[in-house]
Formats: sequence, C-alpha cells, structure tokens
Amino acid sequence: MQQDKIRNFSIIAHIDHGKSTLADRLIEFTGGVSEREKEDQLLDSMDIEKERGITIKAQSVRLEYKGHILNLIDTPGHVDFSYEVSKSLKSSEGALLVVDATQGVEAQTLANVYMAVENDLEIIPVINKIDLPSADPERVAEEIEQTIGIDASDAILVSAKTGIGIEELLDAIVERIPAPDGDPEAPPKALIYDSWFDNYLGAVCLVRVFDGSIKKNQEVLVMGTGKKHKVLDLYYPHPIKKLKTDEIKTGEIGVVVMGLKNVADIRVGDTITDAKNPANEPADEFEEAKSFVFAGIYPIDTDKYDDLRDALEKLQLNDASITFEPETSQALGFGFRVGFLGMLHMEVVKERLEREFGIELIATAPSVTYKVKLTDGEEMEISNPSELPPPNKIDKIYEPYVKATILTPNEFVGNLIQFLNEKRGVQTKMDYLSPERVLLEYEIPLNEIVTDFYDKLKTLTKGYASFDYEPIGYREGDLVKMDIRVAGEPVDALSVIVPRDKAERRGRELIKVMKELIPRQLFEVAIQASIGNKIIARETVKALRKDVTAKCYGGDISRKRKLLEKQKKGKKRMKAIGKVNIPQEAFLSVLKID
Ligand code: GTP
Repeated sequence: MQQDKIRNFSIIAHIDHGKSTLADRLIEFTGGVSEREKEDQLLDSMDIEKERGITIKAQSVRLEYKGHILNLIDTPGHVDFSYEVSKSLKSSEGALLVVDATQGVEAQTLANVYMAVENDLEIIPVINKIDLPSADPERVAEEIEQTIGIDASDAILVSAKTGIGIEELLDAIVERIPAPDGDPEAPPKALIYDSWFDNYLGAVCLVRVFDGSIKKNQEVLVMGTGKKHKVLDLYYPHPIKKLKTDEIKTGEIGVVVMGLKNVADIRVGDTITDAKNPANEPADEFEEAKSFVFAGIYPIDTDKYDDLRDALEKLQLNDASITFEPETSQALGFGFRVGFLGMLHMEVVKERLEREFGIELIATAPSVTYKVKLTDGEEMEISNPSELPPPNKIDKIYEPYVKATILTPNEFVGNLIQFLNEKRGVQTKMDYLSPERVLLEYEIPLNEIVTDFYDKLKTLTKGYASFDYEPIGYREGDLVKMDIRVAGEPVDALSVIVPRDKAERRGRELIKVMKELIPRQLFEVAIQASIGNKIIARETVKALRKDVTAKCYGGDISRKRKLLEKQKKGKKRMKAIGKVNIPQEAFLSVLKID
C-alpha cells in the first residue's frame, strides 16, 4: 500500500457517547466483518469491559475504503489510562471527536482533545446520536467551538446506531486527515502503543511505524529495555482474523510477535528499531507507567498466599503497569502491597484476581504514596499508612496533588464547591462555558480522590458532572496517622492518614460506619480511633443475645443447615482479627466517610 493512501485516526469520546458503537459501524460499513462474525461490540473484548460497558484496553483495526487503508486506533476512555491514550494519539494523524448530540462536551473529552491538539492532529468533530428526539446538534457544535476552540461548522452528524452519516464520515476521514509522513529508507522506528498477552503468541505489541519498516525474521532492538529480539510474525489488527504480512511499512500499524513471555519487555511507549542499524532516537519519550494508588491485598485463606503471588505474576505478564511486593500485616497476615494506575484499574485487577483465579481476597482501603522527611534528615516513601513513623520522628510529610477538571450544569455549582472545599481542594478556575454549563478547575490532594470521590460527585450532580484529573506533583501536608482498635487490638490494616484538622470528625464518622459493618459477636466489641495515644472516638458493637440456630427449635434440620450455610457464606468475606470477625466492607469504611 502506498504511503499516501494510508489514514491513521483515533476516536476520542466521553464514556457512553458511542465510541464503540461507531467503531463497530465503521467496521461493518467497510466490510471488515461479516454478519456471522459479528459480536455485539467488536472492539471491547475483555469480559469486564463488556460488563461495565467501558473501554479499558486500546484495540485497533485496519479497514479498507475506496482504495485507502484506514487504521482505526482505539483509545481507552478512562482517566487511569491517559498514558496509553497519549501514545495512541501520537500514532495517529487525525482524531474523530465524538460528542453525544443530547449531552455535549465532557471533562474526559476535553483532556484528550487538548492532547490531540498538542499533537497537531486533524480533528473531525462528529456529533453522534442524531436519531434521538432530544438531539440538539447545533447547540453541541457551538459548545465544541467554545470549549475547544476548533471550527465545528463542518462537524459530521451521525447516528452510529442507525448508520446515518457513516459514509460521509468515511469520506471525511479520507479527505481531511493527512497521510502519514516518514522516511521509508531510514532505519526503522516503530512506537509501541499497546501490548497484551496472547495465549498462543505470548506477549505481543501493536506498533505504529514512523520510519523504515519492520520485517519478518528481522533482528530488532527495543530501545527502552535495550533487549534484542527476533520478529517471528507480523499481522495487521483485525477484530476476528489475523491478517498476516511480511512487512509493516512506514506509516502503517501492525502487531509484532517476538515470542516473548512477558509484556514488561514491550511496554507501551517504547520504540522498536533494527538491532544492527538502529534509529538515533526513539519515536517518542518513554516513561514507565507509574502507580498512583496502592492497596494491601491479602488472601482470606492464608494457605492461598502462593496462589495469590502466582496470580499477580500472571496478571503482570498481561499488564505491566501492575506492581506488587510482599507485605505483612499483624492483622491480615501475609499478602502484597499492589500498585495501580488509578481506582478503576484497581477494581479491574481485584475483580480479575477473584474471578479468573478464584482467590478470595481482603483488600485494604486504597492509599497514595507519601514522601516523608524525618527529623534526622533521612527521606522515605510510604504507600502503607501503618508504616508511617511516629510523629516525633517526622519533620515533614508531602502528599501527591492533582489538577481536577470538572464540568457541571450550573445548578450544582454551589454544592460542588462546598464538597471540593471539604476535600481540601483549591479552586484555580471557574468558567461559564454557556449560561448552563460550568468548568471548574481545582488543585486537590490525590488522597481525597482515591476514596469514593467520583460516586459522591455523581450523586451531588444527579450524574451530570464529568471529571478528570492529572498529577501535578507533591506538596506539604499537615497529616497524621489515625489508628483503629477493635476489641482493644490495634488493627494495622485499618490505619489511615488524615489531615490533622479533620482527623477528629473523620475518626468519629469512620468508627460509626464500622460499627454498622462489624457484625455482632457473642461479646461486646469496642471500636476506637486514636491518634498517637489519644483516643478520639469510640463506639460499641453490642453483644449478640442468641445463637442464630436457636430459633429453629432443633426440629427442621434442612432449615437449620441452610441457616448455618448462610452464616458460613457471610463469613467467607471476613477475616478473624483476634476474636472478632471483620468483614471486607469494614476495611473499606474510610471510603464511605465525607
Ligand atoms: P466506552 O466504551 O465506555 O467508551 O463507551 P462508548 O463511548 O464506546 O459507548 P457505546 O458505544 O457503548 O454507546 C453507549 C450507549 O449509547 C449504548 O447504549 C449505545 O447503544 C448507545 N448509542 C451509541 N450510538 C448511538 C446512536 O447513534 N444513537 C442512539 N440512539 N444510541 C446510541
């Protein structure tokens, strides 16, 4: 294929604005997949993605249309994966900005569009869902012009559902998006913008070739790791078939198979070049994905420790952004401190550990990494609150901050400002995008966001606000460690780091939530929160009066068994701490407080 006939483009869209449906329709229209091969949503392939209806891993597909090759480069639609988004955009010359005609521009879309603009991509505004009666494409076009500052007069109006406007959109892709440039004679330079583990092929990666070409049997160098590998196979991405090829040329995208066992050898953002005749510099800067959120993960059944380690190692083959190291807790025994890119990433990994590997887990509340300067001048980083040294040894504590962008209907602004103040946010911007919609920017500690921030934001705004964040570095904080005792025993896995001036109130709330979650035992259980030696809150879980089976009068055996079984089930997700059974939810109580 001639280089000038290639078009590489990404789709940028807010969750639910119809990216997957549109991709599906483009594939169908260009004959990429027959009816028989069709699945519901072709591009979202992971189970969990399907269930949650969100795109996590980027997928790509090569389409043919009117003598051109159109490479659709899908991007993950969630804040946790913005590094991957940036590499997908880097691999494209154009982007479709998909906006729901009944909704308008959202925070997530904004962040990605700004990234696309910075990368000089040709942006085609696409207003989707125009089949809906409440669609208002004119208003949405105006909003696109105002918020993003691009001309939306030539926006393409489509319905990904019914197929209206799809042909016009394909023509616009061919006409408006430039062909890739790059020198076919230069040493090869291929950017890895996605990688995953295939059960048959091992770790494979998707690349965009910027210069030269990658050939079958070539010996290549992965610039970031410095390792050399042989190219065993090459194919073009397609949702169903493997379209084999002997060469991926300048401007093209393709999957490279090198017989690798571990995706850590081919991380997103790295560059592949020729081993003997390497490129001078990589296709793009390479940074290792950084964990922002950490949680202790422990098997409920202590015998499953080795299984948990095996499972984490297997997941890491697939997802190089997971980090883990062994950790011991007095309360929970042997487990791991696992690092994640963000909250959704954490949920997905926990779910996969339980579902795919069948290990029942107790997870501690998520934490960020703090930098601590000690009075003796030493510095340390901690991601487990129970490891914070005693106050007399601490000189300063620094915590990570993010810039949060929130888009909301103006009727909720008052409530939101109050909420963000409570979360220690500092406003840096407030813009009326239209009389109805407001953009808020805040600098806020990441620690306040790793709680159920997102759910609260949604509740406060009846689901209308959208939210995005990016890290902006560390700042000093006046923070203290709050310890929790259950029945007199300190439970290290329940310790949290809180701002000093909010410690008492948060302590009282935390204990109240826990009281509701810890089931009654045969004896009274005191729950206490303390800072240093000072108890700041206390509640009591009253003793249980009767044995659960007592009301069965010994008669109905099957009923009795059922009850016991039910009780056993209930126990499954509990961990015995001393004499008390503490359920999983209680470990996450801190997420429930304001
Ligand atoms: P993520 O994968 O989470 O990024 O979501 P998405 O943007 O891919 O959204 P998806 O394609 O899953 O569409 C979201 C919902 O909107 C689904 O219920 C679709 O059926 C619906 N939808 C998508 N396009 C249209 C359209 O043109 N018209 C109508 N009426 N509904 C649409």
